[in-house]
Amino acid sequence: MVETREPGEADEMGNMNEMDGMDEMDAKGPRGTLGVAVIGTGRMGADHVRRINDVISGARVAAVADLDAARAGRLADGIDGATAYTDPAAAMDDPGVDAVLIASPGPAHEAALLDAFARDLPVLCEKPLTPDAASALRVLEAEQKLGRRRVQVGFMRRYDAGYRTLKSRLDAGTYGRPLMLHNKHRNADTPPGFTDAMMINDSVVHEIDVTRWLLDEEITAVRVLRPAPTGNAPDGLSDPQLILFETAGGQVVDTELFVNCGFGYQVGCEAVCENGTARIGDDHGVFVNTAGHWGGTITPGFVERFEDAYDRQVQHWVDATRRGEVEGPSCWDGYAAAAVCEAGVLAQATGERVAVELIERPDLYR
Ligand SMILES: NC(=O)c1ccc[n+]([C@@H]2O[C@H](COP(=O)([O-])OP(=O)(O)OC[C@H]3O[C@@H](n4cnc5c(N)ncnc54)[C@H](O)[C@@H]3O)[C@@H](O)[C@H]2O)c1
Repeated sequence: MVETREPGEADEMGNMNEMDGMDEMDAKGPRGTLGVAVIGTGRMGADHVRRINDVISGARVAAVADLDAARAGRLADGIDGATAYTDPAAAMDDPGVDAVLIASPGPAHEAALLDAFARDLPVLCEKPLTPDAASALRVLEAEQKLGRRRVQVGFMRRYDAGYRTLKSRLDAGTYGRPLMLHNKHRNADTPPGFTDAMMINDSVVHEIDVTRWLLDEEITAVRVLRPAPTGNAPDGLSDPQLILFETAGGQVVDTELFVNCGFGYQVGCEAVCENGTARIGDDHGVFVNTAGHWGGTITPGFVERFEDAYDRQVQHWVDATRRGEVEGPSCWDGYAAAAVCEAGVLAQATGERVAVELIERPDLYR
């Protein structure tokens, strides 16, 4: 059977028919490319620097900033034309900078976003927009004062081939109206100090975003169930957990979160619709038959599982920015996710159903 693809839908190999062509657009920056300041040069920041330098087109790293001067310096040393700073605002003032990629920890995002707004620079901000709804609201208000969107939030699952295919089919009504989503989110293990609240704020935040995006509905209430914990979880961590969302459209969404499953990193989603179901995330790479066994492999972590999505996310941001446009997840999406996280953490602590409180959606984000 020959399958036709909608714009933005991936084929079975994950190839996209949008964002593939990296057309020459109006050049920006001293070398005809977008000069990016990367704020925060830890795990994600360093990976985005590598991506801008070696993987995607149309951008170059003009500046990096980290409170850790040695870390920023080491990274800049390997990149022709990049300068290291300890102050994010100074990096944004570098004459080669046209745009900002924020990859510092969540609590530092608000200050960096406001610094970028003061310079009217476009931003790709790693999730979370900010760690709580009140600070996200301040960012939302500051962006509205600019009168136009400046920020794409780094909810990169929206750029994963499987999620994009599912989204385009749900939007097309291919299987009828979606009634439920079943999400699974499993990590091999957790770093020291990982808490119950981080299970919502750092892990489930991705299911919060894909739920809102796939269903095009706000989440209105959250409940959390805690099965007897695995013996593999550190003391005090209630793992696994089952998180239930209700949406404004009347759908119910469950997420199995199991962050010490021991065997690898698995993320998937099944949409249950009126006329069928559609599931993504079962890809285990090459399917092998050998020595009396069949099977594939499981990615060890999110970097491997979502490598293509990170690349597409940053390419999409660079392309849109060079066209003078802002696309992708917005500050509204960052704010709504923060509000659902807050409700989720309260639901975890109380065992109760907690309603999500959102302000009315401003015109800029309609
Ligand atoms: N999208 C995803 O899948 C994903 C995955 C992991 C992390 N993240 C997000 O990426 C961001 C960074 O996470 P990470 O894992 O790279 O953290 P990290 O701890 O590895 O790195 C953070 C870096 O920021 C620096 N830093 C701290 N405060 C700063 C400030 N005020 N200004 C500049 N630099 C500062 C630190 O010195 C460190 O080098 C977080 O927002 C995190 O939630 C997203």
